Amino acid sequence: MRILPTLFQNNRTWAKKMLESDPDFFNKLSKVQTPEYLWIGCSDSRVPANQIIGLMPGEVFVHRNIANLVVHTDLNCLSVIQYAVDVLKVKHIIVCGHYGCGGVKAALDNRENGLIDNWLRNIKDVYRLRQAEIDACATDAEKHSKLCELNVVEQVANVCHTSIVQNAWKAGQPVTVHGWIYGIGDGVLRDLDVCITGPEEVALTHRMK
Ligand code: CO
Repeated sequence: MRILPTLFQNNRTWAKKMLESDPDFFNKLSKVQTPEYLWIGCSDSRVPANQIIGLMPGEVFVHRNIANLVVHTDLNCLSVIQYAVDVLKVKHIIVCGHYGCGGVKAALDNRENGLIDNWLRNIKDVYRLRQAEIDACATDAEKHSKLCELNVVEQVANVCHTSIVQNAWKAGQPVTVHGWIYGIGDGVLRDLDVCITGPEEVALTHRMK
């Protein structure tokens, strides 16, 4: 007997439904993937990439970690970006944060949570960089939301600072990096309007020659 039988049953039902709408669906997908989008989002179970943006399997390449961070030395995230840009030739990289992010909240207080604190230090760096803006918020809830937003803005910059994206631009490959935030409470995505399309929009300190 299989363990977690409900999940296997769900899978059979889902696969059958997909085949009913397109008998060739899995056959086509097994041959090639040509997503136009790379999604970098939070691991939070309430923020599932495909469902939120209404895309089918094969349409979005996904990387998720706690608090949607793009850390300069994270081989995992960098490998995803490199494969997405160099091999899949995605046209858009979306960094999507969300309000109510537990990782961001943990970074705002000084409680100890174990190993993860070392990961959350990257969000504390954002807090330190933008402290005046965050501390100007009237309530703790507003501070939390503001840091969720500013964290996305910083991670968008981090994507653009990678040698991968800068080399793609240098080669004339169109790649646009977007910063979005999702509301768990209302299911709505908001564009943070920090879209970057080329090296001239990157800070001089990080622009490769
Ligand atoms: Co989160």
